[in-house]
Amino acid sequence: MANFSSLIQDWFRQNERNLPWRENKNPYFIWLSEIMLQQTRVDQATNYFLAFKEKYPTISDLANAPEDEVLNLWQGLGYYSRARNLHATAKIVHEKYDGVFPEDYKSILALKGVGEYTAAAIGSIAFGLPYAVVDGNVYRVLSRYLNFDLPIDSTEGIKHFKALAQELLDTSNSGNYNQAIMEFGALQCTPKNPDCENCPLNVSCEGLAQKNQLNLPVKAKKTKVRKRFINYVVLTDGEHTLIKKRGTKDIWGGLYDFPGNDQFDKSIGIMDLIEAYKPQKHYLDRELNHVLSHQKLKVKFWIFEVEKLISTEYEKVKIDSMDNFPMPQLLVKYLKASNFFGNL
Ligand code: ADE
Repeated sequence: MANFSSLIQDWFRQNERNLPWRENKNPYFIWLSEIMLQQTRVDQATNYFLAFKEKYPTISDLANAPEDEVLNLWQGLGYYSRARNLHATAKIVHEKYDGVFPEDYKSILALKGVGEYTAAAIGSIAFGLPYAVVDGNVYRVLSRYLNFDLPIDSTEGIKHFKALAQELLDTSNSGNYNQAIMEFGALQCTPKNPDCENCPLNVSCEGLAQKNQLNLPVKAKKTKVRKRFINYVVLTDGEHTLIKKRGTKDIWGGLYDFPGNDQFDKSIGIMDLIEAYKPQKHYLDRELNHVLSHQKLKVKFWIFEVEKLISTEYEKVKIDSMDNFPMPQLLVKYLKASNFFGNL
């Protein structure tokens, strides 16, 4: 296995992508990129990374920005708790560490939104700390190379993979090795069509030898996707509407959306909403389907016309200023497709 880490790094030398966060070892940019790359592919994250880097050249610039502005710039990247934690961590680094990113593993791990994976990535890439990363790429590469079929979502599996990854780490080149194995998983040992024919590890890959590579890694539980039915009420006096910043317990935390009702698994009516708002006129504007990682949304957008818009719970905003509020992609999609908004 000693050979594994040098083969992976040889491959990386020849195949490394030229990515904007690889230009230097600035821990702020490495951290920013690693938060964006959680749950998101490199091609999708790149433009967001560049936008953040330009708008907030230092971590203190990010710390001093309003939360809505940060969420607005994050809009479309999903998993919005990442953006809220990013902002909270920037404030901590700005205030507690004078804007200097902490350099030891424990302090990095203690930052909001930074788990073991991200702490290992930042620590190794920015500071050369000897911690192996274990992300989806690493699970795939190691399980295939060793034909190792312990489920990666079981306690036992996680423990074994972590120990194995740490054992294989080239501790004198931790950052390079960690990036190499992730890059190898992203480009060569891909989930669906790994290029085994042209792989520098194919001679010693046990998964390939057993023709088992496409069955690996093994997951014990299937991800459950639930159906969720939403009625949104676009209340309007013709010029304004009502929106509210969502709490952080559910999807889209910190983003703005319309009033309404929603329920899992079964369709719901709008009678209670009509009762509550007593519109002069109401009609269905659009129906949209929207897929999140664990929820399939079926969403109806109703226009409720009222004479006067008054609410203590919601913010009354001008319809033409809605761009200033961070919103779920579903609402961005709706505003483009809407008959009502299109005809204003
Ligand atoms: N995925 C997440 N972080 C990465 C990195 N630093 N290099 C390659 N792929 C990654």
